[in-house]
Amino acid sequence: MFQTDLKRAINEISLGKPVALPTETVYGLAARIDQAEAIESIFKLKQRPFFDPLIVHVGSIEQARSVVSWWPPEAQELAEVAWPGPLTMVLPKASHINSMITSGLESVAVRWPKHPAFQSVLDSIKVPLAAPSANKFGHTSPTEASHVHDEFKNDSVFVLDGGPCEIGIESTVLKIMKTDSGTELAILRPGHYSEIDIKKILSSYKIKFTNVIEAKESPGQMKHHYMPAIPFVIALKRKELDQLSVQIFENISSLPAEIDQVKIVKLLAPPKKMTELILSTDPRLATREFYSKLRKLSDSGYECIVYFKESNQILTEKNDAWDALYERMDKAASLILKD
Ligand code: TXA
Ligand code: MG
Repeated sequence: MFQTDLKRAINEISLGKPVALPTETVYGLAARIDQAEAIESIFKLKQRPFFDPLIVHVGSIEQARSVVSWWPPEAQELAEVAWPGPLTMVLPKASHINSMITSGLESVAVRWPKHPAFQSVLDSIKVPLAAPSANKFGHTSPTEASHVHDEFKNDSVFVLDGGPCEIGIESTVLKIMKTDSGTELAILRPGHYSEIDIKKILSSYKIKFTNVIEAKESPGQMKHHYMPAIPFVIALKRKELDQLSVQIFENISSLPAEIDQVKIVKLLAPPKKMTELILSTDPRLATREFYSKLRKLSDSGYECIVYFKESNQILTEKNDAWDALYERMDKAASLILKD
């Protein structure tokens, strides 16, 4: 059965049809980097603006080197330790990379994903695959095959089912830059690999982390993203859910219809059927279950989801294992209630 599905995925990609493939982070919607029409269909299927660049997925370090024009020893070291895995490196692009993939930037994002099914597809096709997360623009990323089916209900997209994703949120995006004073790094999107992890891997190199990244260098990092079908609200102080209803309604009503081209889900009246999002106290598990729980709750007849961000583990275990999850959570939220 699985072999037949694998063959079908390879065949459809070869014919220029984007196919959803599992990775260890989230499902991706993949097309060959050398098929411009297939790349264009990815943007169309996702309803994604062309200013948001795609990640090029490779099946080896050698293939990664073929899509960049500069491969510093720091990239080699990171690749040897973290790949295949949830780390994306942004480096100067090779001239043959279609500028639709990079949204006209001079850099390209590259990652070697860790999932046997994705690897089999790459090994068979022998050309890197551009793949954004397999969701409509602005929506919650899919971590199970059924999530992708829900996103593309009205489109014909073949989904290669590789089970639930192990990590559950997207890869760390790390930009690597050559400057007069040496190599500079910047995390454009937090993920499983934190700044501390990267510093450890590169401990024998002279590197500098910088935060000053202009918006044009980090497109696709909009304020709202990953939003479920019903409003998701973060409350910093615990209260009874029904006590929050009017406050949530009024605050959401005053938001614009869309922010950075992402539609904000509205309420018609103060929500009556509200539910609380409860996550594991282990950051790895909480990260794995976050998107999936958001989807499940928004499909269960509720009108609003609330997360109380005051539990003990957050106050006592303030460590970088939570950072990437909280960044996604803030962006998935329509609203953050401070009191
Ligand atoms: O885990 C992941 O990274 C997943 C799986 C499928 O691999 N992919 C993913 O792709 O999250 P996507 O398209 O949803 O997010 C990729 C983000 C873009 O929104 C953009 O912010 C950043 O990566 N990016 C891509 N190319 C870039 C570039 N040349 N310069 C700066 N940022 C870039
Ligand atoms: Mg995405």
